[in-house]
Amino acid sequence: MRLDKFICKSTDLSRAEARRAIAAGEARVNGEVITHEAAQVHENNHITLAGQRLVPRPFRYLMMHKPAGTLCSNVDGVYPSLFRWLHIDKPDELHIVGRLDADTTGLVLLTDDGRWSFNITRPEQHCAKVYRVTLRDPLAEHVAPRFAQGLLLQGETRPTLPARVEPAGPREALLTITEGRFHQVKRMFAAVGNRVESLHREQVGNVRLDLPPGQWRSLTSDEVAGV
Ligand code: URA
Repeated sequence: MRLDKFICKSTDLSRAEARRAIAAGEARVNGEVITHEAAQVHENNHITLAGQRLVPRPFRYLMMHKPAGTLCSNVDGVYPSLFRWLHIDKPDELHIVGRLDADTTGLVLLTDDGRWSFNITRPEQHCAKVYRVTLRDPLAEHVAPRFAQGLLLQGETRPTLPARVEPAGPREALLTITEGRFHQVKRMFAAVGNRVESLHREQVGNVRLDLPPGQWRSLTSDEVAGV
């Protein structure tokens, strides 16, 4: 982690204040004064600021029920950022693990632990994401075997990893995928001649959404460990 980020994670200083303190020679790493704000440090290093030993706050892991018409982004855009619903200290330290489209609702995970989010999002991890999909047309019988086999999405050369789909109502389906390609669910149904009318993420790994829209909570240690 960068030294300026480490200082922010261990104190109430903003990034700009941390950089000023570093430039002023107040930061030491293992006894050596470091004036380069981007110097890489490790939490096992002995890091002090103005003589005080710094200990980073524990990582945070949250779930949120993303309402429709919100952006999975740290800043507002065409729609408001879902961070508006996140009344928490230092929200800018958090990032979103696996974004959803503006019109998609459901489970969003947030953290400041980059290693944890990397593990969830890399396809080799095969972390299952479960989506409840409302379709324009009923789920055709030929779709489940095609999704199970993997199919080529428009403009791509690598087929999708095997996915499971089952009917959940007259025009509703439950889809489980282990990747997170751009607009993947909508493009998968488009590739088999159907259309997604609405999309809701219910589960990521063993973490199941259990909150009303706009609400958030910390994950339990079991959820963090098992995702
Ligand atoms: N797939 C999509 O097409 N959209 C999402 O928001 C998530 C997965």
